[in-house]
This record gives sequence, structure tokens and C-alpha cells, in this order.
Amino acid sequence: MLGNFTYANPTKLYFGENALDNLKAELAQVGPNVVLVYGGGSIKKNGIYEAVLGILRECGKRVAEISGVMPNPTIAKVREGIEIARAHEADFLLAVGGGSVCDYTKAVAASVHEEEDPWEKYFVRFEEPSKPVVPLGCVLTLAGTGSEMNGGSVITNAETKEKVGKVFADTSVFPRFAVLNPRFTMTLPHYQMVAGIYDIFNHICEQYFSGTDDSTSDYLSEGLMRSVIHSSRIANRDPQNYEARSNIMWSATWALNTLVACGKSTDWMVHMLGQGLGGVTNATHGMTLAAVSLPYYRHILPYGLAKFRRFAVNVWNVNPEGKTDEEIAKEGLAAMEAWMRELGLVMNITELGATPDMLEKLADVTIILKGGYKTLTRDEVIEIFKESL
Ligand code: NZQ
Ligand code: ZN
Repeated sequence: MLGNFTYANPTKLYFGENALDNLKAELAQVGPNVVLVYGGGSIKKNGIYEAVLGILRECGKRVAEISGVMPNPTIAKVREGIEIARAHEADFLLAVGGGSVCDYTKAVAASVHEEEDPWEKYFVRFEEPSKPVVPLGCVLTLAGTGSEMNGGSVITNAETKEKVGKVFADTSVFPRFAVLNPRFTMTLPHYQMVAGIYDIFNHICEQYFSGTDDSTSDYLSEGLMRSVIHSSRIANRDPQNYEARSNIMWSATWALNTLVACGKSTDWMVHMLGQGLGGVTNATHGMTLAAVSLPYYRHILPYGLAKFRRFAVNVWNVNPEGKTDEEIAKEGLAAMEAWMRELGLVMNITELGATPDMLEKLADVTIILKGGYKTLTRDEVIEIFKESL
């Protein structure tokens, strides 16, 4: 394990079919004014809204609501939520939904007591909160982002088309607790389920494809990737399979709660390309990653050949006998591509609304990071988007 690192994670997890039973005890520890935050209405259709509201009432909370948090939440919506939380003198924010609702709630929580506009402070200058953060908790309904146990908050500026992730180091922005009931994810449309699965897988890849040392984090990553591949195949055929869906949900949390990043430089370039695309097209996050991944990985393969070879053998069971390292590495990516097609992921950016005349704009809003095997140039960013059309 190279490098020095600190690992701290304050989020308490309640997992399983009875996980929501713990909400009452958690709410007993917070003040009376609670803001319930949710998305476009899926929780009203599947009964989760009623169940959560019932518990809030039992606990005697005064409840205000922020509803209509959209996928890829916007900074305009964050500003609206800050006003609601201020007017309600919020003691606690309860996010009920997917990554978008959870990310959004963090942005509001970190801004209620700040005077400055959150876009400039958090998403341009990447500062930490300077005033107390309103505590928050999460009832998760979509397995994918890992937002339930991290400090990430990804917000879109619809005017400039920038989609930017702020990873809060301040652990008071992490959810205090997360309720993870795999049954709550069972009403997801297939499209969202597989987008979430690819998001999980790619989070692990982003941390795995960096560094060169013998790292425990890489062995953990390989185990998580194998579990995701295994369970995703079952869930793809049989979405109501509890065991598969529960393993996917648990893997999602561990894929992005900073554990497998320990000792790693981490890459995150697929996410930067995906966020660039998401900012311009507003497409579903996991699909934006799927659409750009293979052109990116094929592009950087020569620079990280040893790791791509290891990925092929340890994750995809490629038989290395009689093959060059390059052949083995390429066979690994071919196996990954076959799995992605099996799940029905979107494999090109055209299907997500991108057109050739958007290439320059896509490059403009894509942040280039340096942690992976090759630091891209702007021309390479354009090239990868072109190959993804
Ligand atoms: O809005 P509602 O009506 O709830 O519908 C949502 C939404 O349309 C629906 N949905 C969620 N749970 C459901 C359900 N439909 C039926 N049954 C359920 N149980 O699914 C749609 C997508 O929801 P969303 O929350 O947008 O999806 P996801 O969890 O994939 O979150 C995506 C956002 O998280 C960010 C992404 O960039 C994107 O903005 N990310 C956050 C990260 C973090 N905090 O660390 C890291 C990730 O890489 C990612 O960037
Ligand atoms: Zn992601």
C-alpha cells in the first residue's frame, strides 16, 4: 500500500427488508423540524412515501417537503430547497430516493446557514462548509451512486451546461444514517436498474485503474467487481430476485464509500467524460458512463497494460496461456463489452442525444483529471467522444 491516507466514515447503515424499522430511533435523536426531500413521485407510487411519512408523524415531527428533485439535480432547484429549509428552520433533512435526491440534500444541507451562493462556493471553488451543516439521513431507493455513504454531491448548472461533482471532506455532509432495503429498489424500471449496476461497476474501475503497487484495495475491488457481474446477470434475467438485488445494493455502497480508494491515486476520467455528456444532454448518469467507457479504456490500455491484463484474468477469467499481454488485456475488455451488451446498456452517445456538432462543447465542459494511466489532452477528449458517437 503506497501513500498515506485517512479513512473515516460516519454513516450508519441499516440493511435488509426491515431496515426502515430503525428510522424511528434515528428520528428520535433529531430536532422537531424535518424537511422530507424526494424526487418526481416514484415513492408515492410504490408506498415508500406513506411509510416514511407515517413514521415522521408517529415521531411528532413538523414536516415540510421539497419535492420534484430531478435526475441530475440543478443548482436552481438547490437554491429553491435552501429557501424551504430556511423557512422551516430545519433541524434535519431526510432524503428519500436515489442518488440525485441524496446528492441534492447534501448540497442544501451544506448551504442553509451559508450566506454565499452554493454554486460558486462548492462547485466552482470546491470549498468546504464554513457554517454548521444541517444533519441529514437517507432512505435509498436506487442502488448505484454510493451517495448514501459518501460526501459526494453532483449538481448541474443548466445555464452553462456544467455538471460538477463536489466531494465533501467534511463528514457532517455525509448522511448520518442510510436505510438500505433492497425491496425498495424492486420498482425501478429495467433501464434505471442496469444504469445503476454499470455505475457501481465503473466506480470500482475508476479506483482500480490507477497506481502500480501491490494494493489490498485492488483485491477488494476485484471481489466487488466479480460480485456485481454475478448478481447483475441474475437480476437482469429476474429483477425480482431479492438475493441478487441485495448483493447489488450492498456492493454499490462499498464501491464508493472511499474504502477501495485507499492508497490509490484513482482515475475518474470516465466520470468526467460522463458528466460532460450529462451536462450537455441531461442523460441518465450510468448510461453516460457506459457510452464512453470502452473507447476510453481502449485508448488508455497501452499505458496501463499490466493492470488491464490483471483485470482480464482476475475479473473476467481470461485464460492467459499462449497469449501476449496485449491480447489478454483486449480479451478482458471484450468480455466486459459482452456483459454490458447482455445487460442492455446504452453503448454510444448518439442514443443519449449527442451529435457531432456538440463535440467542442462536450470538450469545453469536461474536466481533465490526472490520476489515471494517461492524462488526456483536449484533442484526446474530443477523439474519445467521437469514437463514442
Ligand atoms: O424522481 P423519481 O420519481 O423518484 O424517479 C427516479 C428517477 O427518475 C427513479 N427511481 C428512483 N428510485 C426508484 C425510481 N423509480 C421507481 N422505483 C424506485 N425505487 O429513477 C430515476 C433516476 O433516479 P436518480 O436518483 O437520478 O438516479 P441515481 O441514483 O443513478 O443518481 C444519479 C445522480 O447521482 C450522481 C449522478 O451524477 C446523478 O446526478 N452521482 C452521485 C455520486 C455520489 N454522490 O458519489 C457519484 C456518482 O458517480 C454520480 O455521479
Ligand atoms: Zn457514478
